[in-house]
Amino acid sequence: MAPEMTTNLVLTAPEHRVGADLDAWLSGSGGLGLRLALETPSGLISLMEAAGLRGLGGAGFPTFRKWAAAAAEPDPEKVVVCNGNEDEPGTFKDVFLLRETPHQVIEGALIAGLAIRARRVVLYVNPHARGAFDAVAKAVAQWQEHPLLAAVGAAVGGPLRLEAMRSPGLYIGGEETAVVSAVEGGFPFPRRKPPFPAASGVGGHPTVINNVETLATVSHIVRHGAAWYRGLGRNGAAGTKLFSLSGDVQRPGLYELPMGTPLSELIFVHGGGMLLGKEFKAVFTGGPSNTLLTRDELDVPMDFESVRARGSRLGTGAMIVVSEGTSIVRKVAEYVNFFAAGSCGQCPPCKTGSYQLAHLLQRIDTGLATRADLDAVEHLCDLLPGSGRCGLIDGAVTVVASSLQRFRSEYEGQLAGG
Ligand SMILES: Cc1cc2nc3c(=O)[nH]c(=O)nc-3n(C[C@H](O)[C@H](O)[C@H](O)COP(=O)(O)O)c2cc1C
Repeated sequence: MAPEMTTNLVLTAPEHRVGADLDAWLSGSGGLGLRLALETPSGLISLMEAAGLRGLGGAGFPTFRKWAAAAAEPDPEKVVVCNGNEDEPGTFKDVFLLRETPHQVIEGALIAGLAIRARRVVLYVNPHARGAFDAVAKAVAQWQEHPLLAAVGAAVGGPLRLEAMRSPGLYIGGEETAVVSAVEGGFPFPRRKPPFPAASGVGGHPTVINNVETLATVSHIVRHGAAWYRGLGRNGAAGTKLFSLSGDVQRPGLYELPMGTPLSELIFVHGGGMLLGKEFKAVFTGGPSNTLLTRDELDVPMDFESVRARGSRLGTGAMIVVSEGTSIVRKVAEYVNFFAAGSCGQCPPCKTGSYQLAHLLQRIDTGLATRADLDAVEHLCDLLPGSGRCGLIDGAVTVVASSLQRFRSEYEGQLAGG
């Protein structure tokens, strides 16, 4: 098999997929990262910086910055939360990692705990993600009496509570300040930042919130070093990325590829190209809260910077491919409906604006809209960004604005008399 055909590079490699079996995990290479981390906990943050690890949950925020901010706080009751809420349509990477290799994720979370000297590590898992919570709960139970967990506790200056909890299973429950509210036992209402959770999170304690994929990567960086991790990427990017490929392709699925792999390679090599008889039209990059790319843009290397340079975003790495004949307006209307239903209701511009956008898009889709309706969509796209406590409304607007930029004629063609 040619090297570029290898898709289970690190996190999804078959040897790591031992499920909730701690003995099996530790009898392989599992645990080595944590043991090494226990030897030099003070070097972990600079190691993540040297490796160039960025948050793989969507925003690409440098992991070491969050860790350093929390570590610098004097509060001894720090918390690490592994964010396994994953609820956006088209994204199915975290459920795979949590179900197939929960110990890899837990080991990374424990290393994060060591780095910031946390006393509590919470695996926050979407209960609707099939098999994920049960695997994590079982895996967490297996750690409880293990001497390695006691060793981490000793290193952080007190016993370390490792626990699994069900997230509310709502889309908004994945936003980091909503995660804080939910872990505290409340409804997942986001709040304004600052303060960022790294300064004041769960119970007011400094809290590092990282995505499942980010944390799953950590033990490998500790074992193999920063240069190894950087070398895994292409086009100057570091590491690997899990891509959730769906839509009108021959082989939809989860692909772990070098960061920086061209989008065309994902779709036409790994994904096997378009379904028979279907012509490529566009891809929703990074999931429905991001942007669309068209045929001319498929050469884009899939890394945070390159995708951003095309006015798009890598997001969660979800790539939803649509073919000619698919109505972009209808697809976008469906996504905006999802966001409208997911809006928590605290910020009126988000709740009403997302519903109004969804309503207008539906009017356009069903041929009932006039040019004034389309103008209203554009007006809302100008007005709404930044009007919520969190990024939900911004994501909804991004996909509408991107589709208008690239497929305006489709919108105009659906106007009454258009
Ligand atoms: C509406 C909304 C939903 C989100 N849902 C998730 C989620 O399910 N999982 C996740 O890891 N991040 C989610 N995020 C991003 C988190 O706020 C946060 O940036 C992320 O957990 C940080 O982890 P990372 O730095 O390791 O990527 C969401 C953000 C928004 C605005």
